[in-house]
Amino acid sequence: MKFVYECSDCHAIYETDEIFYQCPKCAALNDGTSFSKGNVIVKLDEEYLRSLKRKKRLTVGDFLPYEIPHPAAYPVGNTPIVEPQRLSDEYGLKNLTFKLDGSLPSGSFKDRASQLIAAQALHHKESRIALASTGNAGAAMSCAGAAYGLEIILFVPKSAPLNKLMQSVLYGATVVPVDGSYDDAFALSIAYTKEAGGINRNTAYNPMTIEGKKSVSIELFLQMGRTVPDVVYVPVGDGCIFAGVYKGFYDLKQAGLIAKIPHLVAAQSRESNAIAHAWQTQEFTNLAKATTRADSISVESPANGRMAVRYISESEGWATEVADHEILEAQLELAKEAGVFVEPAAACAWAALKSDQQMLLDRFGEEVEVCALLTGTGFKDMAAFDGRIEIPAAIENSVAAMKARFSL
Ligand SMILES: Cc1ncc(COP(=O)(O)O)c(C=O)c1O
Repeated sequence: MKFVYECSDCHAIYETDEIFYQCPKCAALNDGTSFSKGNVIVKLDEEYLRSLKRKKRLTVGDFLPYEIPHPAAYPVGNTPIVEPQRLSDEYGLKNLTFKLDGSLPSGSFKDRASQLIAAQALHHKESRIALASTGNAGAAMSCAGAAYGLEIILFVPKSAPLNKLMQSVLYGATVVPVDGSYDDAFALSIAYTKEAGGINRNTAYNPMTIEGKKSVSIELFLQMGRTVPDVVYVPVGDGCIFAGVYKGFYDLKQAGLIAKIPHLVAAQSRESNAIAHAWQTQEFTNLAKATTRADSISVESPANGRMAVRYISESEGWATEVADHEILEAQLELAKEAGVFVEPAAACAWAALKSDQQMLLDRFGEEVEVCALLTGTGFKDMAAFDGRIEIPAAIENSVAAMKARFSL
């Protein structure tokens, strides 16, 4: 499939068959104090996109710039859509859905990007991929590496949750914990690829990460019988998932398959609100410190902040901030009232949706079709429950003890 790259900031077009990362002119302006410039968008050939409207059996793969080799080796996609009946009744939102991306192979949404990056590597005959991650992208890339036989070099802040690091080690990646922040790990991984070669998978830096993440929107469209929700809630840190969600709907619109892109809502923790703040103020300054407990969305200088802010506006969406305690409460509520077990970052989407409940009802009515992307499984970060959940003490193995336990 033919595609070019367009700079999201200066709109310059780059045509190349080589692996391409950023607009050199805009990236040269980055000084580390404000959201970085120069991320590029993969633009698919418009005539090709329009031809998809006439295709009877559409697949997600029709929209991807690289063919996925042997997809069953690393089966990414077709995640369940939950209709959480009890929560729907409780909040008066009749058409509430959750997209359960924690059910992907490595347990998070990040498998979507890693699948396309693996395809990119195999297409370009590269066997080594380096990246920085707060945990999930690393685990996903390591999982893909194991499935396809690719070497993964992973830089992580040493504070990343143990389960996520453990996963990457188990999958066979070379894990390099860094005594620094995620941003430090990001810079080191780019320096690594410049020195040692291979592909860099850093979120947004490699435009194929956004392009891979768009699969969720096309999948939603196909699963929902060629329609899309009115409003979609996305948990946001770097803003790369958000841009991917937008891009999927954008391509569907360019293909003439949908008339309108859904309103996209950037759900952020108040303790890591760089993108929400920038959307409100149009100032793109980095945060001094992000402190949210939802580690996957704890970001000071969002790697895809500018594009995400642009897409909030272009989708006629908005940003909703919630407190950390609301995120943690939402996480428990999802488990207890919907049987959905997610990590805190994913719960942020539900916390934001809940906090917007009245506004959604006032503006769109109770029939509004609203979907929250639940981006990672709760098993990713069991330490999040320390001090919040108690496992009951064991009872003696006797009928008498059982009776005593239930006052029978
Ligand atoms: C589970 C989960 N949800 C949400 C996000 C936020 O995605 P982004 O950083 O692209 O905004 C991440 C990113 O690591 C994640 O792992």
